[in-house]
Amino acid sequence: MSDHAQLHQQLIDTLTTGGSLRTEPWKRAAVAVPRHEFLRGGLFRRVEGTAGAWAPLLEGEPGWLEACYEDESLVTQIAGTIVPADIRGQILRAPTSSSTLPSLVLRMLEALQAEDGMRVLEIGTGTGYSTALLCHALGEENVTSIEYDEDVAARAGAALGRIGLYPRLVTGDGLLGHGAGAPYDRVIATCGVRTVPPAWIEQTRPGGLILATVGGWLAASELARLTVHEDGTASGPLLGGQVSFMLARPHLPPPLGLLPDLSAGKEREAIIGADTLNDWTARFVAQSAVPGAQRLTLQQDGRQEHVLIDVESGAWAALCEEGGHWTVRQDGPESLWDTAEEQLGRWKAAGSPGLEEFTLHVSPEGHSYLW
Ligand SMILES: C[S@@+](CC[C@H](N)C(=O)[O-])C[C@H]1O[C@@H](n2cnc3c(N)ncnc32)[C@H](O)[C@@H]1O
Repeated sequence: MSDHAQLHQQLIDTLTTGGSLRTEPWKRAAVAVPRHEFLRGGLFRRVEGTAGAWAPLLEGEPGWLEACYEDESLVTQIAGTIVPADIRGQILRAPTSSSTLPSLVLRMLEALQAEDGMRVLEIGTGTGYSTALLCHALGEENVTSIEYDEDVAARAGAALGRIGLYPRLVTGDGLLGHGAGAPYDRVIATCGVRTVPPAWIEQTRPGGLILATVGGWLAASELARLTVHEDGTASGPLLGGQVSFMLARPHLPPPLGLLPDLSAGKEREAIIGADTLNDWTARFVAQSAVPGAQRLTLQQDGRQEHVLIDVESGAWAALCEEGGHWTVRQDGPESLWDTAEEQLGRWKAAGSPGLEEFTLHVSPEGHSYLW
């Protein structure tokens, strides 16, 4: 057995026993695609005990091959340009590209319900690992994959070519889809979106499926599987599991800019406190009500302020707890916490259902969630 064969087999076993690898076509694809081929440029490992620092691990260094076959997401680019070979030591910036953990990739591919010969559009080529799996199961001539970042796309193309796979690779904004290859039977996104782009719906045939992680700026997200309808709308269930992906680059939040004067605004007692937002599902519900809001925590004047700010509209809400009671101060064109509280109240009144009980409807009028 070659160096990687045993590690590869162990990964397949883990995916099979863990339930993410369930059907024969995807088992064959997972066996056929060696993940280390997509990580020859090295990877970044999280440095334990730091506030989010990353250290490079290059091909051939001790632990590299083992890391490639762990069921972990492996960061391959940081801050939009930096790759492992660029630095020595550590770096403290946000990841911008990665090879997603294989159990999630395979769970998504299984959930895509794609069959041999179906035409698939993938958004977020990344390293090309998931693209390779798609090529194996569906035929490379049926796979189109879009990557935003030119350098990332070039490395993925080279890795796919090394193992003899030549799908249609497009560099550009995947939120626009790729009309030239439409209609697709399936669309799958391995970056998160705040809203499902109209182009994905337009470019999917009626009855086709879109599998994407819908998320936002309050850091809660979930995998949605939408069926495209004749009338140009799409709907379907959230699948559960608290799936999270880096947001599509055009969907990243704008800089916060200057903070508003948080001593201004109207004050009232809050019915629901900001501690509710510690819960993933509650955050998702609040996020769907105030999608433009970003969250930060400030320590000032001896107390903690939990702040929501919508940079575009200028609306803000600041919540503070004292002796078990929450107060909220709000200002701007919308009372953010009134809106979030109302949605959270409806969700709580329904028994705080889990995200797997939600359905998403997407139409030209926008997104709506039912539970
Ligand atoms: C988690 S990685 C993809 C993982 C990949 N499927 C794999 O198996 O290696 C997400 C990728 O989405 C890309 N991305 C972000 N926004 C995008 C957009 N608007 N269009 C296309 N790709 C995008 C990022 O550059 C990044 O490479």
